[in-house]
Parts: sequence; structure tokens; C-alpha cells
Amino acid sequence: MPIKAKKQKVQYCCQSCGAISPRWMGRCNECNSWNSFIEEVVQSSINRKNASQKGNGAPISLSEINFNQEDRTTVGSQEFNRVLGGGIVPGSVILIGGDPGIGKSTLMLQEAVSLARQELPVLYVTGEESAQQTKLRAQRLGLDSEFLFVLPETDLNNVCGAIEKLNPSLVIVDSIQTVFQPAYESSPGSISQVRECALEFSNIAKKKNIAFFLIGHVTKEGYLAGPKVLEHMVDVVLHFEGDRDHFYRILRSEKNRFGSTREIAVFEMTESGLKEVANPSALFLAQRKKNISGSSVICTVAGTRPLLVEIQALATATNYGLPQRTATGIDPKRLSLLLAVLEKRVGLGLGSYDVFVNAAGGVRIDEPSADLGILVSIASSFKEQVVNPQAVIIGEVGLGGEIRAVPQIEKRIDEASKLGFKTAVIPKVNIQGLEETSSFKFIPVDKVEDALEGVLV
Ligand code: TYD
Ligand code: MG
Repeated sequence: MPIKAKKQKVQYCCQSCGAISPRWMGRCNECNSWNSFIEEVVQSSINRKNASQKGNGAPISLSEINFNQEDRTTVGSQEFNRVLGGGIVPGSVILIGGDPGIGKSTLMLQEAVSLARQELPVLYVTGEESAQQTKLRAQRLGLDSEFLFVLPETDLNNVCGAIEKLNPSLVIVDSIQTVFQPAYESSPGSISQVRECALEFSNIAKKKNIAFFLIGHVTKEGYLAGPKVLEHMVDVVLHFEGDRDHFYRILRSEKNRFGSTREIAVFEMTESGLKEVANPSALFLAQRKKNISGSSVICTVAGTRPLLVEIQALATATNYGLPQRTATGIDPKRLSLLLAVLEKRVGLGLGSYDVFVNAAGGVRIDEPSADLGILVSIASSFKEQVVNPQAVIIGEVGLGGEIRAVPQIEKRIDEASKLGFKTAVIPKVNIQGLEETSSFKFIPVDKVEDALEGVLV
């Protein structure tokens, strides 16, 4: 009798949001992304007898649950601890994504050794590099510890076996896309594999109170590769970003169940690994040219820390067709709004100008307090008038051209005066409680026009 090949059942899975469909679709109904469905073999479910979290099903009173901030494990880098919200919470799963070559493995190896030096066993699972390559990197960084264990392995079951045997405090998986469950037929890195491995790791994390760092790849568009569900499954999502041609890197938290998501940490990539930058404002302003039009300095607050950033703008007459508007590091919608305010309230004819705006240093600004600075930079370039180089510009701009209050003004002013600025343009409503000194003056404004008059020289 002829043997019939068993027909594999397939389904289609959206790479962007993880939605599942029995047939291929050009556009995902859930997240509206185009061309995101890929074929996957339907997996027979595997035994998950031990998958539940620790506990016997009985509810616990909130006041009886113990957790102290001191239970967090702190790594060597204070910057890293701050982004995590004060250290690593035991049993948490942290996903860290970033472009290839940005320095994820370097960062994780450094932090792994800093924990191992506290005599906490750390398991470094390397699916991308061999044990020798990891050793070579450690040598280059001048790192060594007998408490750091390297496991060159990609089979999920072997990794789990090693965790069982070693019982480490921290496991680093480099990367989640290389690990696979052999019981599944789909290839490593596919949605079902990534989901399955992450689920398994997060079960172990909760059951054994081990913290996990999962290193994840980033797609061309800058999304974490793998299903969106991966981001929902983990406790913390960190992005390690920066320009590969530049030496600094920014670690940002996108999601944090145990801390703020506004914190950032700045590192510098050197010959001997990543060094934390204690004063990023100075770094971001280091290359500022003071006497050119189109440049102003704003102060944004990232989490607990104020950060001075140069905003550069260039407005040039459009030569053909539609004028271009390009924003790097700021929201393009915010740029359109500010351009409209400049046209309507100040009367600048920007309609036939290309406008480029850039937050220098690769910083991403998502706070409206930068509005006024962006607007001033554009006006400065358009009018070819230089902005007072001693001034820092703070304020949110409303559609009526009014300047609105910003939170944490004292913190911003402190940072500006620490870095040698002599004056600050601030919203009029924020002036209460602020005291001028002989070396630091305020220009309180409530209209865009007043701000331009105050700082353009
Ligand atoms: P790596 O950590 O391998 O990046 P990822 O894991 O994100 O792909 O970092 C690779 C880059 O970092 C590589 O281009 C070399 C550079 N590098 C340094 O500049 N100094 C160092 O000490 C190390 C280890 C790497
Ligand atoms: Mg790597």
C-alpha cells in the first residue's frame, strides 16, 4: 500500500501584531499593516504540565505579599540600573532590541560580568557566536569571572536543562531568534518559535525567580523582529539605539512593569567596550556651532533627568514641486503643526520652503516642551538670524500661538545653568517661584512672536 505523506496544516501569522488567519491576507485586519502575513506550520500543542506559575491557586492578600526595593539586583552600570527602574527585579523577563552591531552583546556581557563579580551565577546562552568568540570579546573588554557560564546552544530543551542544573540568578539569551523548540517544525526565528521559546523562558523565570535578558533582533523598519505578542509577554522592553557611525548609544525603555518608561541611559562605545556617560547634555552640545542660524538649545526631561539638546533647522526655498518636510528625532506631525503656527500667527511664508529639522545627537524628543525651541530654530533659519547662543528655550506651543506651561521647570533651569547658559526663554505662567540671579536671567513669554523677538539677534 502506498504511504501517504501526512499533510501539514498551515496557518498565516501577521509578523507585526501576531494575528492568525487560516488564509493569506494582503492587509492585516487587526493592525492594518500590509504584506505582513507569513505561512507557518500549525504545531501540535506540546505538554505544558509545568507551565503554570508558582502557587496553589489560592488568592493572596495584597498586604501579605512581600517585595522590597532592595530585592532588586543591581548591575555595575548605574545608568543601566536607572533605566530598569533601580535594578533587575528577580523573576522578570527583559527584552532588549537593537540594530545589528549596535553593541547589544557587548552591553550584556559587561553587565553579566558585573553580576558574576558579585558571586551571582550568570548563564550566557550564545546562539550567534561560539564560546571562543565570547571569550575573545571578554578578553578585549578585560573581563573575566568564574561565575559567568557560557553556553553555546540553540536547542531550547538543552538550554532549559542547563538552567535547571546551574540554577543561575540571571540568564542572558543571545539571541531569542536563534533558540528553537525541536518539537516544532518551523525554523528558528519564526513567529511560533520565538513565541514558544519566550513563553518557556518566562515560565521558568516566574517559577524559579530567575531574571532573563532576551536579546532580540530589529527589523529594517526598526520594530523588534518576532511577533508583537513577544513585547506583551515580557516585563520590560529596552531599545538600544544610536548611530553606528557615532560613538554614543542610547538605552531607552519602551515598556517597564517596574519603573518609568521615560528614562534613558547614554553610553559611549570605546575601544574597551561601553562606558556610561554621566553628563549627556555636555556630550550632546559638544559639537554645537554657536553662531549659525537655525540652531537653538532646548531642555527636555527624560524620566528623572533633564537633557539639553540642540535643535537644528534648515529652511530653503523649494526648487521643484511640493515642499519637503523632514524631521529627525521629533514627531513629523508636531513639525507640521509648528509650521502652521509660524505661517498663521507669525506670518512667515514657509509654504514654498523645504524644512528640515534635526535633534542633534540621535536623541528622540517626545515632549511638547521642545515646541518653542523647534519653532525658534525654523524661524532663525528662515530669517537667517542667529539665536542667542547663551539661551535655552523652553515652552509648549498651542495652536493659537500661545506658549503653554511645562512641568519640572526648576530641573530644566538647573541643568541649563550648570552647563553655562545665561538665560532661559520660559512660558510666562512658569515664572512664579523662579528667582533670577546675577548670572541667570529669564525671558518670560506668552506669545510666539515675543519669544522670537527675545532670542533672535
Ligand atoms: P556587538 O556587541 O557585537 O553588537 P550586537 O550584539 O548588537 O550585534 O558590537 C559590535 C560592534 O561594537 C562592533 O562593530 C565592534 C564594536 N566594539 C567596540 O567598538 N569596542 C568593543 O570593545 C567591542 C567589544 C565592540
Ligand atoms: Mg550580538
